[in-house]
Amino acid sequence: MRIVFSSADAADYEGPALVVGACQAEEPPAPTLRALDRKTGGLVTEVMSGEAFSGKAHTSVMLHRPAGLKLRRLVVAGPGASAGVDREAIRRLGGIAARRLMFEGIREVAIEIPAACFDPAGIQACIEGFCLGAGGIDAFRTAPESRKKDPYHGPWSRLTLLCPGRITAAVRRAAASALPVSEGVILARRLVNTPGNVMTPVRLAGEARRACRAAGVTVTVLNEKQIRERGFGGIVAVSQGSTQPPRFIVMRYRPGSKRAAARSPLALVGKGITFDSGGLSIKPGKGMESMKADMAGAAAVIGAMTAIGRIGAPRPVIGIVPACENMPSGSATRPGDVIETYAGKTIEVLNTDAEGRLILADGLAWAVRQKPEAIVDIATLTGACVVALGHVYAGLMGNDDEWVDEVRQLALEHGEKAWPLPMDPEYDSLVESDIADVRNTGKEPPGAITAAKLLQQFVGDCRWAHLDIAGVEWREKDAAWIGAGPTGFGVRTLVALALR
Ligand code: BES
Ligand code: MN
Ligand code: ZN
Repeated sequence: MRIVFSSADAADYEGPALVVGACQAEEPPAPTLRALDRKTGGLVTEVMSGEAFSGKAHTSVMLHRPAGLKLRRLVVAGPGASAGVDREAIRRLGGIAARRLMFEGIREVAIEIPAACFDPAGIQACIEGFCLGAGGIDAFRTAPESRKKDPYHGPWSRLTLLCPGRITAAVRRAAASALPVSEGVILARRLVNTPGNVMTPVRLAGEARRACRAAGVTVTVLNEKQIRERGFGGIVAVSQGSTQPPRFIVMRYRPGSKRAAARSPLALVGKGITFDSGGLSIKPGKGMESMKADMAGAAAVIGAMTAIGRIGAPRPVIGIVPACENMPSGSATRPGDVIETYAGKTIEVLNTDAEGRLILADGLAWAVRQKPEAIVDIATLTGACVVALGHVYAGLMGNDDEWVDEVRQLALEHGEKAWPLPMDPEYDSLVESDIADVRNTGKEPPGAITAAKLLQQFVGDCRWAHLDIAGVEWREKDAAWIGAGPTGFGVRTLVALALR
């Protein structure tokens, strides 16, 4: 898809489709709407005062071949140009535009950028919203007509942004990075959506390899034997019940300039459980199918690394993904087993369903050895996090308040909400074991903090932030601006952290 900028008046735009934002309550109506209304002999006012359009956020109306305009479709979407417009509103406007027009046989769309959103970040948000809005997912149907469609990229060939001011170099740069970021989110969504029988650890490594190679990011993958030999005891313990061998995936981005390449890297660690049955502490059948998404953290890291490779970052970045399947069998880890991790610390495994923290313990310990400036891990780690924050905010924890707050702030700016949970030393006793260095579950709440406290044992004094994305990695229902299914949560935040 090509991005085109134009300073032309939206009311004079001629083409397949035009999208303008509007608030019904706006008094007087925005100039563009007034002009469109005049040209159509009052059609816009009439439709906007109807029931379908309340002017509230996320409602929209679509007019087919409006008389008096040289357009096949006109979409009027709330909220509009002035009142209460922020970056999230323009992101959603982009998404609404895509979703209203994705089945109209239209390949070119023009969106009027409200003056209040016209800055580099607003432009980036609008393009991302548009790219990510039309993520209909039909990849596993065999009917030829659904296969023909590109379910992840939509039908678009061109997006025109009608801008209310000068198009600066910064605006162009923001637009140029919106595409690789969206591409990274779309990749992450596809990886998460692919079922566990297909998206095995070996396949995940292959996908990372292919996608990263195309983005100039180098990938090395440790196989089962190497994982065992190097002492990744957490990964071995989780994968040993499965017939699917584990993989340890390392993706390296190096900046072109010598000075930037000499800086210490940012390390991104993603939980890559390709299916989580719970192991011998097996999960109930109801809802178990959703555990194909237990590699959403890994997918976010892989997606982010491709975008970082394409855009370029002012420091090296290392993406780290321990990938395993968690299954029960005669060779599975038992509740009560004690394992030795990569760091040398022992963990008493009281519940084999608390497996993410075991593989992350190895991933984080390996990350620390790379001497990073900071670490961020991202994982669908605990059901307790869903209980605490539902499907809106990710949980955010860490060992350095400044770093955690930087992550929180950047995540928010990119439309990925994360809420801090406390990590005071009083919680350390949650992971104290009677027979090993630590244990993998507590006997009491709080579950999300318990998991984070286990992870903290493996980061030493390296600056570290942890995103628990259980609950935000998947959207149950369609929204006006985005479809149901995997969200690709985290890609935008991780890229922003690398580019900072
Ligand atoms: N992958 C799950 C967490 C999860 C739950 C992700 C719901 C997405 C939605 C994780 O491995 C898990 O099973 N955690 C257990 C930990 C418990 C055994 C201490 C949980 O949350 O129940
Ligand atoms: Mn589990
Ligand atoms: Zn899990």
